[in-house]
Amino acid sequence: MGKDVIVACDFSSAEATFTFLDRFIGLERKPFVKIGMELYYAEGPQIVREIKRRGHKIFLDLKLHDIPNTVKKAMAVLSRLDADIVNLHAAGTTAMMKAALEGLTREDGSRPLLIAVTQLTSTDQESMERDLLIDRPIGEVVMHYAKTAKDAGLDGVVCSPLEAGRVHEVCGAEFLTVTPGIRFADGDRGDQKRVTTPADAKAIGSDYIVVGRPITAAADPVAAYLRCVDEFVDR
Ligand code: C5P
Repeated sequence: MGKDVIVACDFSSAEATFTFLDRFIGLERKPFVKIGMELYYAEGPQIVREIKRRGHKIFLDLKLHDIPNTVKKAMAVLSRLDADIVNLHAAGTTAMMKAALEGLTREDGSRPLLIAVTQLTSTDQESMERDLLIDRPIGEVVMHYAKTAKDAGLDGVVCSPLEAGRVHEVCGAEFLTVTPGIRFADGDRGDQKRVTTPADAKAIGSDYIVVGRPITAAADPVAAYLRCVDEFVDR
């Protein structure tokens, strides 16, 4: 699996998304695009088809979490949209993850990659203990969820770039790490707390970096994207 930069298109309309993506027309490399809940709920499945039609790969970041039968059926629908990566919460348990894989798999045996959210990066040790009654160290919990996802047959996890090396140690080099929380060395951190640069994420072993505001809010988004590619993929 090749390393790539995934651009988080956190926009609330198709119009804003296409105004943004139009800037990249003519570039030799088509950005891999992440569609999250905001854009998907605003525009529906058509937004996936349209971005795909323009030739972009898509990570559909909808983080499913429900009973196995419901997730299986929802994944079968998402599979027909031809996204390249989809995801769910590992907290839905092994049965849910296995059902998701079944739902995703098309008649010819092909399917999008399926990755799991372990613990959200917005969850810290204190809130995990207080609200979820999980009292083990959060790093151990993340690795346990990653291992559960691997054992269920999933392709990887969403995690902090700081955890990517350890996930590969526990789950193997082929198990994908998709990592948000990326900032340029001279950039604004915004609300992200534990961040790394694209170059550091590469050194630690991330397979895909997910980059939102450092690209979408840049004065020159194409230059910011190419800087990520230069640091993470090409250098
Ligand atoms: O703008 P920024 O680069 O912080 O965007 C990161 C993207 O990755 C957002 O779409 C955010 O929802 C997503 N994400 C994250 N942390 C996670 C999971 C997803 O920042 N643990």
